[in-house]
Amino acid sequence: METVKLGILGMGTVATGLINIIELNNSKIIETINKNLAVSKVLVKSLNKKREVSLPQNVYTTDAYEVINDKDTQIIVELIGGINHAYEYIKAALNNKKHVVTANKALIATHGGELEDLAAANGVKLMYEASVAGGIPILNTISESLAANEFEKIIGIINGTTNYILTQMAESGLEYDQAVKEAQRLGFAEADPSSDVEGDDAAYKIAILSNIAFGQRIEIKNVPKEGITKISKEDITYARELGYNIKLLASAVKNDGELELSVHPAFIPAEHPLSTVKNEFNAVFLKGNAVGELMFYGKGAGSLPTGSAVLGDVMSIVKNSQRDNTEIKKNDRYKIADKAFKPYYIRLEVIDKPGVLAKIAGVFGVHGISLASVMQRQKNGNNTAPLVFITHKAYRKSIDEALNEISRFEEVTKVCSIITVENFK
Ligand SMILES: NC(=O)c1ccc[n+]([C@@H]2O[C@H](COP(=O)([O-])OP(=O)(O)OC[C@H]3O[C@@H](n4cnc5c(N)ncnc54)[C@H](OP(=O)(O)O)[C@@H]3O)[C@@H](O)[C@H]2O)c1
Repeated sequence: METVKLGILGMGTVATGLINIIELNNSKIIETINKNLAVSKVLVKSLNKKREVSLPQNVYTTDAYEVINDKDTQIIVELIGGINHAYEYIKAALNNKKHVVTANKALIATHGGELEDLAAANGVKLMYEASVAGGIPILNTISESLAANEFEKIIGIINGTTNYILTQMAESGLEYDQAVKEAQRLGFAEADPSSDVEGDDAAYKIAILSNIAFGQRIEIKNVPKEGITKISKEDITYARELGYNIKLLASAVKNDGELELSVHPAFIPAEHPLSTVKNEFNAVFLKGNAVGELMFYGKGAGSLPTGSAVLGDVMSIVKNSQRDNTEIKKNDRYKIADKAFKPYYIRLEVIDKPGVLAKIAGVFGVHGISLASVMQRQKNGNNTAPLVFITHKAYRKSIDEALNEISRFEEVTKVCSIITVENFK
């Protein structure tokens, strides 16, 4: 039986999962692809580190080109992460006419178009299922099983770290900082969690999803993003009282020939399926014009779930049944819009005296913002009281302008929060 040789760049969390699945499910894999898989070379930073896989010591190297230039290796699996080295190595591998599989969302969101062109020019494949939502097979499902659809929207909870933090704030009553520490202790957040909590990771993933679903190459700078660092326990409590949960959403919504992209925390109705996605789990909710609404749910990270997606790409390359890179369109079918025309939740802290509410409501009115509900609560103890508004749909720009004016009132001590309300209408 023929053996297909893999060169692996990196032997960390995901690569370890990949090797462990190859061992665990070896007979199923051979049965499916009718070939053996073997590892030829593995790039690492440190040759002395103890590894949790049983590969012979002589496969390891610190020279990337020993992996990339190995003449018997057909597929290079890039799992080192980061942009610069990964970009250089993947380009070299594609130019060497080797197929490439990667889990690297930062790289694909930044250089995916160019690398896909290079793969097509060299007659090889570039696959990156694991780069979005880890174990959930969403990219290949969109591009193959759902290929008959025009998509209207894709809305995802595609960052497990932030979903874990928000779930712990809601269910264990933790403050934001405590929830981050808990996520770090359990390995759901990195020592520096900024790429997750500031929304960059989700922005990379929605750019990749939009490319596959809408045939549109997205420049990452065109994805407006806001993370979860300003979400407080109070906002989570109000959300619950109003019948919502707060989640970090990454969305791409088509509207009148425009594509609105965004990463932002949002109030989601408690009864919506995305509201039930908790802790480190991910979900992608989409609407196609033929299939209707679908939701995919599963683990968005971790050694085995992500390794499963990487190995799925490797096997589909071997079976030659994968998506054709030349199918990815370079066109600009849609204008990228940044309108943010939505209902908003606004929480202010005001001095508790008569007439304040009417004064503030007047400013909203002048800016064309109508209010759906107002909640006025007990004093905080320092003669201030929280004031919470839910608006009807309004442009974010108008909300910011109104709040700029409102924040100058002497009765308004703080503009605490502005959060989108997602009603899925
Ligand atoms: N972890 C997840 O759950 C997950 C989920 C989805 C996608 N991803 C993506 O998968 C990729 C890999 O993530 P990971 O969590 O497996 O990373 P990781 O645990 O940090 O492992 C990285 C590996 O690459 C090696 N490495 C890094 N930079 C190198 C360099 N310049 N030269 C040589 N070797 C280098 C490291 O070598 P040493 O071992 O010698 O230090 C290590 O083995 C990333 O793109 C990540 O975004 C990860």
